[in-house]
Amino acid sequence: MSLQKDQRSLKLNTGAEIPALGLGTWQSRGDAGYISTKAALEAGYMHVDTAAIYKNEDQVGRAIRESNVPREKLFVTTKLWCTQQREPAKALDESLQKLGLDYVDLYLMHWPVPMDPKACKDGDVLQIPELPSGERAIDKDWDFVRTWEGMEKLLDTGKVRAIGVSNFSISNLETLFAKCKVVPACNQVEVHPLLPQHELLEFCQKKGIVLEAYSPLGSTNAPILQDELIKELAEKHNVQPAQLVISWHLQRGYVVLPKSSNPDRVASNLQTLRVPDEDMEALNTLSKKRGEMRVVNPKFGDFPLFK
Ligand code: A2P
Repeated sequence: MSLQKDQRSLKLNTGAEIPALGLGTWQSRGDAGYISTKAALEAGYMHVDTAAIYKNEDQVGRAIRESNVPREKLFVTTKLWCTQQREPAKALDESLQKLGLDYVDLYLMHWPVPMDPKACKDGDVLQIPELPSGERAIDKDWDFVRTWEGMEKLLDTGKVRAIGVSNFSISNLETLFAKCKVVPACNQVEVHPLLPQHELLEFCQKKGIVLEAYSPLGSTNAPILQDELIKELAEKHNVQPAQLVISWHLQRGYVVLPKSSNPDRVASNLQTLRVPDEDMEALNTLSKKRGEMRVVNPKFGDFPLFK
């Protein structure tokens, strides 16, 4: 089976193109963010995904600015952290300053849950504020609809080319549609063979929202790559398990954002193959056999997150 450097792209509801394979940088903190972004741009990635809370915007931005890739050819995403939901314009300016860029291609609301900046320690809002009880400090006097209204205004500033959401369920998207003007360009959520998100994918596709997969290999230590079926299929096609899984994602028609801090793995993750229909089907139904696995499930109290 032949591998090729992946160059697919998808169209956003703004008309802009988004490269379908991008570098994920969650847990590539600090210098790891620089090393992985540099490796990605050298390997030919055209899309890098970061977030204010990843604490690597400086390093990701430095790698972008040092690269030979013209800015207009690159697709850069960052995200509004939960404690910044009342002030998206200020948060965006801070992110752009760290990135050293004039605009981002996509600005996402990181979670639908506003958190209370006043509960943060040491005046740093880029953290998860907790109450003395140990629960997350949710900003109960705010909601994601108001945040989205603030984000809509950013479209007129030229500092964002598109806005979107992350970790939104169908039900929370419906709440948004009922009250807001702009349909999100993207919804970035956890997706992998043990959390295939069939229903959410179909819903987003119908509404013209591009789904984006984070933790596409199952996050820390890539547990998905240890699955017997995935190992077996990868061996059959003479590719790495990660290449098989990334190819499965892309063939389902959405954006995939594999993370690696290792330059060799960053490069090999860009090489994809055409997965035959019967193997696509086996991967599409794997979670039925093994059971679903959701890796990222923060405790946001009684907020209806994934329902
Ligand atoms: P590392 O950063 O050391 O390469 P996800 O994209 O689902 O968040 O997965 C990230 C995990 O997958 C990290 O532990 C990362 O480790 C690992 N990983 C990324 N690419 C590969 C690969 N090609 N082979 C094996 N593990 C990988």
